[in-house]
Amino acid sequence: MPSQSDTFLPVCLDLGALESAAVAATHRAALACCSWVGRHDADAADGAATEAMRRALATVPGRGTVVIGEGEKDNAPMLFNGEVVGDEGGGPDFDIAVDPLEGTSFCAKGLPGALSTIAFGDSGSFWSPGPGFYMDKIVVPPAARHAVDLDDPPERTVQKVAEALSKRADELRVVIMDKPRHQGEDGLIARVLATGAAVHTPAGGDVGGALEVLLPTCDVDLLLGVGGTPEGVMTAAAVRALGGGMLGRLAPKTAEEAAAIRGAGMSVDRVYERDELVGGGALFAASGISGGPLLGAPRRVDGTTVAESLLITDGQVRFIRHTTFEPIPTW
Ligand code: FBP
Repeated sequence: MPSQSDTFLPVCLDLGALESAAVAATHRAALACCSWVGRHDADAADGAATEAMRRALATVPGRGTVVIGEGEKDNAPMLFNGEVVGDEGGGPDFDIAVDPLEGTSFCAKGLPGALSTIAFGDSGSFWSPGPGFYMDKIVVPPAARHAVDLDDPPERTVQKVAEALSKRADELRVVIMDKPRHQGEDGLIARVLATGAAVHTPAGGDVGGALEVLLPTCDVDLLLGVGGTPEGVMTAAAVRALGGGMLGRLAPKTAEEAAAIRGAGMSVDRVYERDELVGGGALFAASGISGGPLLGAPRRVDGTTVAESLLITDGQVRFIRHTTFEPIPTW
């Protein structure tokens, strides 16, 4: 069992000053792109979210370095790795991981699950995946933090997590993205189903899946499978802030990606612990774009615009409902 001291980590960075800035950044991005929901133009939606987030980040107190700027794997509009944001006034130096539009295809197709996400951390505390775009991930709630090992077969992981959570395997709910790499007779989804566990298979969105594991209100116990590395680092910020467990290992999809990882002196065998992915104080914020189990989409209610965000800081999750008189920007 984790002790109180390793569950809730002390905050090193003055995150208080950055909390409202993080929520403002995802809120602005969500508002800017929500009218693109269902318009089947992923790049336009991503571009609107990215530009709005960039503008919001320009006013953040201090000097932030974008360590994880999503978009490189699919040439989507992005905040660039190394880009410096903030007002460069007297505030703190900090790292940022962003995905202004996580779940681009959900947004484009008008499906639930698109979120705007950001994580802030102590300067130098975010792992850089280098040229690695994909990683194998396990995410568990705090009570199962010490029960998992990426080298275990999935059947054993299910068993160990069930024991740590005082459940039977057939009471466990597992999220695995419905990707070809997880499908097939002997694939990850089939193997976990064979343990008796229930398996949720969203088409994408493993940040949202990890949040469902972390939030007690969601009744999901475990996230498994290969997803993006930027999403992995962002997820680790939320996991660390809430005392959950996470392990990751680079899992290149192509020979080219594997060669680039080797060329950068990195290994595809190395397992990264949660605190190697994010090694200091961290906070995470997200805002809803197309609706879903976590956060509703921005909408007009009685002449106001209502939008939903969440903020995760050390040991706390806050749900925020924004109500303003400003209209939703049109596409
Ligand atoms: P986007 O924001 O780029 O659409 O990413 C969504 C997502 O499903 C992530 O949640 C996940 O980590 C990644 O894509 C998986 O990548 P791929 O769809 O290429 O398998």
